[in-house]
Amino acid sequence: MAEILHEGNIWHLRNRWISYALCELPGGVVAHLYAGPRLNNLNPVGLLRRANLKAEDFSVQECALDRLAQEYPSFGLGDMREGALTVVAPDGSRAVDLRLEKAEVLDEKPALSGLPATRGEGCAALRLTLEDAHTGLVAELNYAIYDDCPAIVRSARLVNKGDAPLTVERAYSLCLDLPDDDWELITLSGSWARERTPYRRPLTPGFQGVSSQRGASSLQTSPFMALVRRGTDEQRGEAMGLSLIYSGNFIARAEDTPTGGARLLMGINDRDFTWRLESGDAFQTPEAALVISNEGIGGMSRGFHRLWENHLLPRRWMGVDRPVLLNSWEAAYFDFDEDKLVSIAKAAADAGASLFVMDDGWFGHRDDDTTSLGDWQTDTRKLPHGLKALGDRVRALGIQFGIWMEPEMVSPDSDLFRAHPDWCLHIPGREAITARHQLTLDLGRADVQEFVYESVANTLKESGAAYLKWDMNRNFSNIGSAALPAERQGETAHRYMLGLYAVTDWLTRDFPDVLFEGCASGGGRFDAGMLYYVPQFWCSDDTDALQRCEIQYGTTLAFPPSTMGCHVSAVPNHQTARVTPMDARFAVAMGGSFGYELDPRKLSDEEREALRTQVAFAEKTQQIRLYGDFYRLLSPFEGNDTAWMSVAPDRSEAIFTFVRAWAIPNTMPPMVKLRGLDPARRYEIAELGEVYGGDELMNAGLCLPMEVNGAGDAWSALYTLKAVNE
Ligand code: GLA
Repeated sequence: MAEILHEGNIWHLRNRWISYALCELPGGVVAHLYAGPRLNNLNPVGLLRRANLKAEDFSVQECALDRLAQEYPSFGLGDMREGALTVVAPDGSRAVDLRLEKAEVLDEKPALSGLPATRGEGCAALRLTLEDAHTGLVAELNYAIYDDCPAIVRSARLVNKGDAPLTVERAYSLCLDLPDDDWELITLSGSWARERTPYRRPLTPGFQGVSSQRGASSLQTSPFMALVRRGTDEQRGEAMGLSLIYSGNFIARAEDTPTGGARLLMGINDRDFTWRLESGDAFQTPEAALVISNEGIGGMSRGFHRLWENHLLPRRWMGVDRPVLLNSWEAAYFDFDEDKLVSIAKAAADAGASLFVMDDGWFGHRDDDTTSLGDWQTDTRKLPHGLKALGDRVRALGIQFGIWMEPEMVSPDSDLFRAHPDWCLHIPGREAITARHQLTLDLGRADVQEFVYESVANTLKESGAAYLKWDMNRNFSNIGSAALPAERQGETAHRYMLGLYAVTDWLTRDFPDVLFEGCASGGGRFDAGMLYYVPQFWCSDDTDALQRCEIQYGTTLAFPPSTMGCHVSAVPNHQTARVTPMDARFAVAMGGSFGYELDPRKLSDEEREALRTQVAFAEKTQQIRLYGDFYRLLSPFEGNDTAWMSVAPDRSEAIFTFVRAWAIPNTMPPMVKLRGLDPARRYEIAELGEVYGGDELMNAGLCLPMEVNGAGDAWSALYTLKAVNE
């Protein structure tokens, strides 16, 4: 059970695995004492000694805040490091001096107004209220520690209790001061079709980290960072992960400080951000999660997976089987009519799929990507009988119907734009910058939110769709809002996110049984913020089996398999032109929420038969694959082989996946050490008809039956392990 211990001036948040402690110093400065594996007792002497302080003669003037580990520091009053908070006072100064007023152990974890956050069950919650006497700014620091995973979540709420307006220029969610800098930093970076590659490097003096100023968490990086000790691997060693529950501009930075500590900061990116706080107004930061593991990077990932599955992802879909879907995008692109879609859907139904999704191209006059976003009326040239008739024909095949929309966008060539040119993000007098021939609607506006809600709700109602692919395909530019006065233009990007969350919340509540899948040119907004509303996200537009080994491997650092949309597509692959065997494409796509991205009518009889077997396997194994304990075994970034496995919580079953990218002649077949099994039990591998001890598979390894010569590129294995009753 999670608990909060309070002794003297120390608050200690603790559960089975971890401890997090903070301490009020004389005068009210809140120092950070510890974050790490569970402790019984804490003595603050070390903290003070490091800062060259004695508790009894503490004074801010003398202590050089510069050396002190703090919970929510600000720049400008002796601390020379980057701070978590910058607020412009009425006199134009920017320093903030927060002192503790009150600390409360709460009965319930408070919800975050307007923002996604972990839910409050099964945790202990603490609130610190700090005040800056000079401005009347109050900061409430909220903490919670969960019973069932090694995780702490944090956020800050700022309230202007002074008489004059304040301008927030920076309000991060979290500061974590660590006593040493002997760490390596892992972040995730990439690009379109290459999302979330892990990069690992030692901390060096100065700043390092990742950020987005693109209006979304982005394809290029992810609101995540981890610190690990040198030598920490998947199974062993200290690892600390941070993830921000936010989908817009963010920053995650580590500062290796001159005196040998490390300061981690995470929150909304302060580039192009300001927030005006009138007297009495409040500003809520997003929530950040900290996961601490002594079982390597794998332990950290499993901590995040549990935290998100048990406390963040939409409850309606947790532990629930997902439909095996077939998406029309790579099967037809914009070139379809009703009969063509129905015949693709029929082939999907024949293969056993349970959902057919019509992607882009069904509305306005959208024969390519240059027009019609915002005009969500059915294109009767393609679908003369409307959405309902198409949906009914698909449902008559015994499968569900799903649909694609990009609700946040408008094409300059659209009736919507002609009617409401001021509804998009824009700066009056400046030329509009389009990307993919489109502009971004200003979701901070109530009228735009209403429009987006109505467009999506009407489409869902009319079509009877059981699934919605919610896409978002461009970065922000011309960041300005016609609805805001000049002094509030810096609020545009964050107001957009609040609007997006409000609409998504509204829609997912009103259509609880519709499965929403997020998408942003692939995985361009794959973050814990969106995953509060949508249980799965299209992992990448790149469906090449070998590329997907990398993308999915990297994604699982921070997110569980159930959240990754993973499809088998045709060969030659549309992104890489590579030809890989069907088996490999299937084995890799088994790493997440499964479907197809191809025209099944174009497959050979043999391949269509294979599809039936695949769908049956996907359905039978999905509880373990999606919700089991996930272990990465071999990294595609470190060698030619990729392997991972998912293990049922009771360790009675497991699914194992292996892919060797390039065939290498004349080497012994691969031997892979499995993880997470019960060492005392024996497991049968159905596909091999062989039985091994759990200890044997984990210590000696499993020798894969690969031909020594002529195995071909992208050789794969996909095995089910079942504990044998003896
Ligand atoms: C984006 C998505 C694709 C597809 C197209 C449609 O690129 O990532 O999956 O839906 O849009 O235009």
